[in-house]
Amino acid sequence: MEVIVEQDAGGLARRAADVVGEYLTGCRDPVLGLATGGSVRRLYRELTCRFRQGRLSLGGAQAFLLDEYVGLEAGHPQRYANVVRRQFAEHVDLDPGRIHSPDGNAADLDRECARYDRQIIRAQVGLQILGIGRNGHLAFNEPGSSFESRTRVVQLTSVTRADNARFFDSASEVPFKAITQGLATILQAGRLLVVATGPHKAEAVRASLRGPVSPAVPASAIRLHPRVTVILDPLAARFTRLVSG
Ligand code: GLP
Repeated sequence: MEVIVEQDAGGLARRAADVVGEYLTGCRDPVLGLATGGSVRRLYRELTCRFRQGRLSLGGAQAFLLDEYVGLEAGHPQRYANVVRRQFAEHVDLDPGRIHSPDGNAADLDRECARYDRQIIRAQVGLQILGIGRNGHLAFNEPGSSFESRTRVVQLTSVTRADNARFFDSASEVPFKAITQGLATILQAGRLLVVATGPHKAEAVRASLRGPVSPAVPASAIRLHPRVTVILDPLAARFTRLVSG
């Protein structure tokens, strides 16, 4: 595992964008796994910037979202499919028909999860972008999630609902359930790129990188993957002994 500490947010976004850019140029049929959340916003801005400068193209790429809330209406601004479109996809040359996400309003959610999981495995995500939750969650795999888990409906913890309340008009609007790619699904990606910033992530980062590999800390599952790059800011890295990069 490669762990990099970048001193400032711009450097972190550039380093993460380098990983994405390298993947896109070195691959004929790129399949990107996209995360949502505060941690990846600067990365998406940096990728947009590079696209505008003609340094990068997502023209031939497919993208798969990591997770989606259950029960938000199609046009809801916090539906992850809409967030990814607004914050990233519509600013680059990613074909909207090649951006895939699970439908959190499907009549049969279990069937939708199984369909989405099959679709991901068939396509084979080459590079999966990830954040880490304050409680160590990965996508919406909350503490206790099995490392064998596949895409499924999960109950969100109160910590995750409280953390994500900042994106909604009120805390009570945050859904109680979501669809998430499972840990086993995520680990099937060819490469993982994990980004974490801020002091509130320091303990989750320490537990994930240095504590026991255990379902109690879902993000510790990344240590089972052969090709992982973790990019942190100094605050997220402060409980984890690392060499600055
Ligand atoms: C969210 C998302 C995750 C994300 C994580 C970190 O709830 N479901 O995919 O990586 O939690 O979010 P943030 O970057 O906003 O701290």
